[in-house]
Amino acid sequence: METRKLGSTGPQTSQLGLGLMGMSDLYGPADRAESLATIHSALDAGVTLLDTGDFYGMGHNEMLLGEALQGRNRERVQVSVKFGALRDPDGGFIGYDSRPQAVANFLAYSLRRLGTDYIDIYRPSRLDPATPIEDTIGAIAEQVRKGHVRHVGLSEVNADTLRRAHAVHPITDVQIEYSMISRGIENGLLQTARELGVGITAYGVLSRGLISGHWTAQREGEQDYRGLHSPRFQGENLKHNLELVERMRAVAQVKGISVAQLAIAWVMAQGSDIVPLVGARTRSRLQEALGALDAVLLQADLEALELIVPQGAAAGGRYNDYQLSHLDSEKAA
Ligand SMILES: NC(=O)c1ccc[n+]([C@@H]2O[C@H](COP(=O)([O-])OP(=O)(O)OC[C@H]3O[C@@H](n4cnc5c(N)ncnc54)[C@H](OP(=O)(O)O)[C@@H]3O)[C@@H](O)[C@H]2O)c1
Repeated sequence: METRKLGSTGPQTSQLGLGLMGMSDLYGPADRAESLATIHSALDAGVTLLDTGDFYGMGHNEMLLGEALQGRNRERVQVSVKFGALRDPDGGFIGYDSRPQAVANFLAYSLRRLGTDYIDIYRPSRLDPATPIEDTIGAIAEQVRKGHVRHVGLSEVNADTLRRAHAVHPITDVQIEYSMISRGIENGLLQTARELGVGITAYGVLSRGLISGHWTAQREGEQDYRGLHSPRFQGENLKHNLELVERMRAVAQVKGISVAQLAIAWVMAQGSDIVPLVGARTRSRLQEALGALDAVLLQADLEALELIVPQGAAAGGRYNDYQLSHLDSEKAA
């Protein structure tokens, strides 16, 4: 697999990363053995960037990854960890804490759960409104000096926050939702990241499965995060968004690829500084996602896609209003 350098100061990673969230949380039940097999298949295929968060399944996701990495060459993978989100015993999200002492505390637990003595890229999952970003980044930079962390990343921030953070310590990448139907980063953040030499790790490239070609209207109301909390998966929004998927399918069929492959290839075509994180939870989904690496989208394909699924084409927000209110990336820079 080809590699990419994440930002001007970051590590060399595979051109496609694997996001592990759905193996522990939010997208309904996952099979532990299949999750481990999927991570191993990804590693065997050359995927080196593995993304997790300490709050995904309240530590479950990190322990799963720690188990998957046993017996593997640690130096050949890049472990990306998000921290800061606070959960309650019912799984609710109850705030963010990125104070310097919280950074050290979260990191200590993550290292133990992962069974490693360093994290490749460590990042606050959201901006903690009560803590200046300079303090949070300063605290992570201290852990870089101590050798517990190698690189500093951010998640869902706007261009101003990125600049302030980058002035404290070089930022490797901003992790943010980016797909054919979630294109907010094109309104300033991507430009600033490029100016500063900061990479992008794109999540939700399949819009959590909505534009994978596998989601159907019959799945509306499924009792997971998507069915319960994501506006794009509900009612008239869902109907409209699945119509967009059918337009994508028509293009994909002509290209001889699947809808999911088209959606992943579209993100890859936006620049070599963008590394998509796909959320495959099974080996079959992973194999499909890896097939996107062979898909070639020409300028004419991209222009055709722009006509049938233009910026802003989706119905419904990418998060519900409460969650959007916590996204620094949605606030004017
Ligand atoms: N920084 C942040 O705020 C943030 C937020 C969310 C996620 N993330 C990270 O980004 C990663 C990816 O996010 P995501 O899982 O929402 O993104 P995604 O790749 O858009 O969606 C993954 C879902 O799409 C479905 N799918 C259908 N075909 C697929 C295929 N060929 N390959 C992969 N998935 C397919 C799967 O659902 P079924 O298994 O139900 O079929 C899977 O759970 C997460 O694991 C996490 O590490 C970061």
